[in-house]
Amino acid sequence: MNNIYLVGFMGTGKTSVGYELAKKIKQQFIDLDSLIELREKKLIADIFAEKGEPYFRKVEKQALKEVAKEKGFVVATGGGIVINPENIKIMKETGMLICLSASPEVILKRVSGLDLRPLMNVKDPKKQIELLLKLRAPYYALAGKTIDTSKLSVGRVVQNIIKVISKRGSKR
Ligand code: S3P
Repeated sequence: MNNIYLVGFMGTGKTSVGYELAKKIKQQFIDLDSLIELREKKLIADIFAEKGEPYFRKVEKQALKEVAKEKGFVVATGGGIVINPENIKIMKETGMLICLSASPEVILKRVSGLDLRPLMNVKDPKKQIELLLKLRAPYYALAGKTIDTSKLSVGRVVQNIIKVISKRGSKR
């Protein structure tokens, strides 16, 4: 079975949904950011601070390539993975992409209070969210299917994804 890649902005629920989805459909789960932290022996925030975003993007692509060699994984990706067309190509060739979305207000609520997201470490996080969402919208659209998680429980999002998977089943 090919991989299922969950893409989407920070705070849209990729990790919690991915974990529950994998349990439900009895597949392996992997969070790409956690894999990067494991490989680099550093938190994402420290990788950004010490080595910069371009370095992070390089290791992010390496981690994706590593996971893309596997089969049957539910993969929660980092919010910025879609900005590199090569990453999209890798994901499309080795599985199915599903994008999770949420309103800027919900995203702000979900990501605030944590100092773990370097891109949210700015004076006006709401503005930053709106700006990045606008810039990244065309890339997220490449997933083909988007599920708005703003008002849905994790369980309900999982149900919706399972519906999408079974509809597209023959293509997997
Ligand atoms: C990023 C999102 C983060 C993480 C890094 C960069 C982004 O992942 O990969 O901080 O560019 O949107 P989450 O989407 O899991 O927060």
